[in-house]
Amino acid sequence: MKIVLGADHGGFELKEIIRAWLEEKGHEVTDTGCHSSESVDYPVYAKKVCEMVSDGSAERGILVCGTGIGMSMAANRHAGIRAALCHEIFTAEMSRRHNDANVLCMGGRVIGSALAMEMVRTWIETPFDNGRHSRRIAMFDTVSDID
Ligand code: RB5
Repeated sequence: MKIVLGADHGGFELKEIIRAWLEEKGHEVTDTGCHSSESVDYPVYAKKVCEMVSDGSAERGILVCGTGIGMSMAANRHAGIRAALCHEIFTAEMSRRHNDANVLCMGGRVIGSALAMEMVRTWIETPFDNGRHSRRIAMFDTVSDID
């Protein structure tokens, strides 16, 4: 799978571990940075990742900051992005099954690398359930029309 990664300084270490794990599993990984633990602004990396997911040059994106909160807020401002902030396996799975999440956000200061790897594995392998969930996701684009 083509996967694009991004992180700020709070997520840098976990992003490095995720990149190595994905590459070892044979995924085609693009790493947009950051490339050190020097302080940077997370919306910059959210934008790089979301643009690649939106234009189809990556199938999925993974964003890591200290908590995952800023990355998820920034990512969900981008058209066509359904970013899910997850810190355990159940929500990682459900974000795929019910929400067709195309970006996974995690907190590098919240979870350990072993859990993160299992979440990433689950998130990559779990398909969207479609059905009634497609209708609900389509409503994201017309929120002002909802009564
Ligand atoms: C950076 O200190 C921190 O604010 C950032 O990584 C993230 O947690 C924001 O939501």
